[in-house]
Amino acid sequence: MKIALIGYGRMGRAVEQAALERGHEIVARLGSAWGGGTEDPELEDAAVCVEFSRPDAALPNLRRIAELGKPLVVGTTGWYRDLSLAGRVVAEKDTACVYAPNFSLGLNLYLQVVERAARLFGSFEDYDVLATETHHRRKIDSPSGTAGRIGEILLEQIPRKRRIVTDSLDRPIAPDELHLLAGRAGHFPGTHSVVFDSPADSVELVHRARSRMGFALGAVLAAEWIRGRRGFYSFSRMLQEILDGQESTDTQP
Ligand SMILES: NC(=O)c1ccc[n+]([C@@H]2O[C@H](COP(=O)([O-])OP(=O)(O)OC[C@H]3O[C@@H](n4cnc5c(N)ncnc54)[C@H](OP(=O)(O)O)[C@@H]3O)[C@@H](O)[C@H]2O)c1
Repeated sequence: MKIALIGYGRMGRAVEQAALERGHEIVARLGSAWGGGTEDPELEDAAVCVEFSRPDAALPNLRRIAELGKPLVVGTTGWYRDLSLAGRVVAEKDTACVYAPNFSLGLNLYLQVVERAARLFGSFEDYDVLATETHHRRKIDSPSGTAGRIGEILLEQIPRKRRIVTDSLDRPIAPDELHLLAGRAGHFPGTHSVVFDSPADSVELVHRARSRMGFALGAVLAAEWIRGRRGFYSFSRMLQEILDGQESTDTQP
């Protein structure tokens, strides 16, 4: 399959490596100059575009790709206030898009584990909860999009938590507040943790990305899946559709 890379930084290069290993061809590698307004004829050949750029470029790039009628995978983080607008653009142009703050397969399965754990621990008042994330020092947005999703899951599953607090505090935290902390240092590709803490014990669930290749592989899987489809999908919905499909195949006589 012919893939165009929109954004050719650390993630764009990792996607290139993963795509080549799976037998795909890279037909375009575009950076901020493309974002500045120049057309690139190489995109005409692309079956799917994969976008890892900057938060402020994600929506304009999505519009341009949708105009061209190309399916798109968006890995850029920090633009999710525009998510419903992006969904409308994709629907209006009758094209296709998969997005995710984190394309790691392991992380997405981890989110399901966190959801289940939050339901269990959330049933017992003794357990409080804390969420943390750590990334390399060059990451622009904070907290990470994934940490934001973890925060949403915890609020959904633990009714006594009603608000996320990301700032440093100069007061005791209120019982209905969920503290979500971001750390930036060194070269961490991404660590997320959720701790359930009681007077008796502490239970910590951690996902540690080893390298960018996990994200890159997930993005390439998404590119393969979105080709020939229509609609606006989160990566977790894509995985659910794949799992549901496997289940119905498994249960066929
Ligand atoms: N979803 C996931 O699984 C996942 C995993 C890791 C990272 N990310 C996210 O992916 C994004 C990129 O991360 P990175 O580490 O690859 O960053 P990076 O190394 O800084 O690379 C960013 C790239 O975007 C290009 N760019 C900037 N403005 C652009 C525009 N308007 N149009 C097209 N390209 C543009 C830059 O090109 P120039 O060099 O020409 O400026 C550069 O090549 C970030 O938002 C990061 O948080 C997501």
